[in-house]
Formats: sequence, structure tokens, C-alpha cells
Amino acid sequence: MKKLIQLNVNGDSHEIAVSPETSLLNALRGELDLIGPKKGCDSGGCGCCSVHVDGEVVYSCMMYAAAAQGKRITTVEGIGKPDDLHPVQQAFIDAGAVQCGYCTSGMMMAAKQLLDTTPNPDEATIRHAIAGNLCRCTGYSKIVDAIKLAASRL
Ligand code: FES
Ligand code: FES
Repeated sequence: MKKLIQLNVNGDSHEIAVSPETSLLNALRGELDLIGPKKGCDSGGCGCCSVHVDGEVVYSCMMYAAAAQGKRITTVEGIGKPDDLHPVQQAFIDAGAVQCGYCTSGMMMAAKQLLDTTPNPDEATIRHAIAGNLCRCTGYSKIVDAIKLAASRL
């Protein structure tokens, strides 16, 4: 049976009806039309569903939507706007770090959390920060370049 819950997403409060087993990912994509977070493995293994919950990277497929009540949820849509991209978003474009794009929003959320806490990370630190995010396209080098570029601009 569905119950009403309140979610604070990208600074806005939403009341939605979800089942107890509804994941945060399904609530974001299915109820709030926030399709930046992607569904890949749906089991905590790829990172493409990554969002921030109270400033920490969380795999949204692994969290119940109901458990996210009272927390501050940020998706890739919330860190920049199409006409005012976050430096991480712009750097991914400028460095050519986007191919199919399926991993990109999760990579950006991991990168942003890293740069929020570590302004000038070395390459090993960058690679560690995105170790929970899989990319089938880029070979990771351009993603690492993008994060270095974003760090230089922030
Ligand atoms: S879809 Fe969530 S970790 Fe893969
Ligand atoms: S750009 Fe295609 S999976 Fe990363």
C-alpha cells in the first residue's frame, strides 16, 4: 500500500505517494521526472544512480525513498542549470568526458563531492573517488582530465 512521504530534492519540497519498497531512484525518476540519475544495475554495483543525500554520495537504487525523508537530496539537475552549468558539468563537456552519457551524472556527483572536500586532488585521489562509478565508454582518462580541469577552475 502506498503512503505519502515528503522529499526535499534540489531545494524543493515534494509530497509523493510511494510503496514502502520504492527506491529513492524510482521515486526521483518515476514520480519527480528527475531522470539525471540513471538506472544501471539497480543493485549497488555501477554508481550511475548516484545522488547526494545530506552532501554524501549515495546510490539511490539502494536507498528506500521513505528513508530519505527529512534529508537534503541533490541530483545532477540540482547542481547547475542548462544556462549556468556547475564547473564540474562544464569541465566534463570541455574535456570530452561524455560519450554515451549513461554514467555521466553519477560521475559528476562523485566528482562534485570530492571537490567540495578536496579542492586540489591528485590523480590517485580522483581515481579513488570515482572507483564506485563504472564507465563502459571512456576508459576513464578523460573523466579524470575533466575532474582535474574542474578543480583548476573552482
Ligand atoms: S543503478 Fe544504482 S548502483 Fe547501479
Ligand atoms: S560515457 Fe558511456 S558509460 Fe560512461
